[in-house]
Amino acid sequence: MANVNKCPWIGSMFVLCLICELVAFAATTKPNILFILTDDQDVTMGGQTPMVKTKQLVGDKGIIFNNMFTTSPLCCPSRSSIFTGRYVHNHEAVNNSLSGNCSSRAWQQTQEVKAFPTYLKSKGYNTFFAGKYLNQYGNEQAGGVEHIPPGWNNWNGLVGNSRYYNYALSVNGVREKHGNQYPQDYLTDVIHKRAVSFLLKQHKWSDPFFMMLSTPACHAPFTSAPKYNATFSNKTAPRTGSYNIKAVNKHWLLEQPIVPMPADMVSSSDEIFRRRWRTLLSVDDMVSDLINLLDKKGQLDNTYVFFSSDNGYHLGQFGLPYDKRQLYDFDIRVPLMVRGPGIDAGRISNDIVLNIDFAPTFVSLVDDSMMDNVDGISMRGILHPQENKTQPLRTSFLVEHTGEYSTNVKDCPQYTNQNMGNCDSHCVCEDSKNNTYACLVTLNNSSSVKYCEFSDTENFVEVYDLKNDPSELKNLYQTLDPSHVFDLEKKLRFLATCSGPECNSLPK
Ligand SMILES: *[C@@H]1O[C@H](CO)[C@@H](O)[C@H](O)[C@H]1NC(C)=O
Ligand SMILES: *[C@@H]1O[C@H](CO)[C@@H](O)[C@H](O)[C@H]1NC(C)=O
Ligand SMILES: *[C@@H]1O[C@H](CO)[C@@H](O)[C@H](O)[C@H]1NC(C)=O
Ligand SMILES: *[C@@H]1O[C@H](CO)[C@@H](O)[C@H](O)[C@H]1NC(C)=O
Ligand SMILES: *[C@@H]1O[C@H](CO)[C@@H](O)[C@H](O)[C@H]1NC(C)=O
Ligand SMILES: *[C@@H]1O[C@H](CO)[C@@H](O)[C@H](O)[C@H]1NC(C)=O
Ligand SMILES: *[C@@H]1O[C@H](CO)[C@@H](O)[C@H](O)[C@H]1NC(C)=O
Ligand SMILES: *[C@@H]1O[C@H](CO)[C@@H](O)[C@H](O)[C@H]1NC(C)=O
Repeated sequence: MANVNKCPWIGSMFVLCLICELVAFAATTKPNILFILTDDQDVTMGGQTPMVKTKQLVGDKGIIFNNMFTTSPLCCPSRSSIFTGRYVHNHEAVNNSLSGNCSSRAWQQTQEVKAFPTYLKSKGYNTFFAGKYLNQYGNEQAGGVEHIPPGWNNWNGLVGNSRYYNYALSVNGVREKHGNQYPQDYLTDVIHKRAVSFLLKQHKWSDPFFMMLSTPACHAPFTSAPKYNATFSNKTAPRTGSYNIKAVNKHWLLEQPIVPMPADMVSSSDEIFRRRWRTLLSVDDMVSDLINLLDKKGQLDNTYVFFSSDNGYHLGQFGLPYDKRQLYDFDIRVPLMVRGPGIDAGRISNDIVLNIDFAPTFVSLVDDSMMDNVDGISMRGILHPQENKTQPLRTSFLVEHTGEYSTNVKDCPQYTNQNMGNCDSHCVCEDSKNNTYACLVTLNNSSSVKYCEFSDTENFVEVYDLKNDPSELKNLYQTLDPSHVFDLEKKLRFLATCSGPECNSLPK
């Protein structure tokens, strides 16, 4: 705060001048923002547990959110919501394929052009991206690696879906190929090193930075750094309330798993559990190095750090071997921790926050401005309660998923042309064309209800009382009186087509 030296007066004049200078300093110094986004990291199976340093340096130094959700439990739709601040029905990236608008030309032209990075750049931010963007990024039919999403002035985008070795990056529009050598090719470490060198190049910190680090961890193929390949060797996937439980009165896809799971399925999901945690240790190292570096450079007090994931995960819940895409809490709850200037340490928040809130949050933290065309709301009021911003208290939100499917399922000829998707070695499928649903989730301090409707031939409905049945074992649909169902249905229909601020105020 060198400005203070410009106050030569004494007594009250000095104090007045000091206040003016402090106000001027606050007005001209925009905060830096560091956003770390992991891939498929859950909350309900203890996905945060291995990240000990991140919890100490981010969560414990700021706010840990207990009710953070994705509005779509699949990578590309969720990430598209993160960038645009919009529900899937508004950004229209419905699945992980180009034909479903994942990084498609149409998406680039209608959505990407108004995503949050363009706002930050226009406000003078030095914007840096490294890691996985959208699953189809770099596809030759949509601009290839030469396409640099607008708003980023330092771009290191992974071509395609998460990998740890043998991938290509678009480095500011130029393809850079990587092989399988540790450490120079291990993607989490590549992201880590590029982030460090970007920060080391900021000599004067005259422009604030926005840095997004989007790791392959802990997505398949779950490859850890060699130094961590034997860690957690006596851990197994947690036997949560729905682990290896035969689904009762659930939509037809949940009838498909083999329950109890065959022994090899149990052991492979336990192995996946350990491997996922191991990949996260390299993310934990990255977070702690970056926080220490920012501290050394005197920037930590002016930097917000957000840590989250695109969707949750399951390993054996209802006998589903390993994936996401389901409406249950294990797939829609994600971690969120935030620290930053003016945020008190040690806070825990039960407020409902969503992936569609990131974009408006980042924009409002820059200069308190609003982002247009968003369905989400800024978290600024939650981060800074002392500002007394009146903010609508969200009590409900929407979850949307469009089921993925393929013509042929490898090693499962019985599923040729059956609209099934993501099947494992026992031909247990985790998705299907008619695993297409929308849910209304209403949470408050006295009750929590999830109401879901499927677009299948049965128009199947599932309803859970999350407060009394957090494992979502008992579908209450048949027990509800018709007027209650009518009310829930009306609210779901409203949210499923909502747009903008109305998405946060349900009809009576
Ligand atoms: C993809 O986005 C375009 C442009 O918004 C839209 O017209 C089209 O219907 C979308 N496709 C799907 C499958 O939703
Ligand atoms: C773990 O990595 C070491 C090299 O650091 C390698 O020798 C060993 O085979 C690896 N173990 C497994 C289980 O992959
Ligand atoms: C697992 O290993 C850790 C550390 O080696 C040890 O403290 C713990 O008791 C072990 N747990 C089990 C269940 O064997
Ligand atoms: C917010 O409200 C509190 C309590 O009424 C008050 O003490 C404080 O000065 C207000 N802060 C701002 C920035 O208006
Ligand atoms: C993605 O959505 C598009 C448009 O509905 C569809 O044609 C395509 O088959 C879907 N992809 C998968 C893998 O389901
Ligand atoms: C909590 O939500 C339930 C519906 O899920 C509603 O009936 C109840 O009025 C709400 N309570 C409060 C205090 O808002
Ligand atoms: C529960 O109540 C607390 C304290 O009044 C409030 O801060 C919080 O947002 C409420 N949570 C929900 C989910 O309504
Ligand atoms: C969903 O689709 C599958 C595969 O096409 C089919 O076998 C099943 O009967 C359908 N179920 C419902 C309820 O639509």
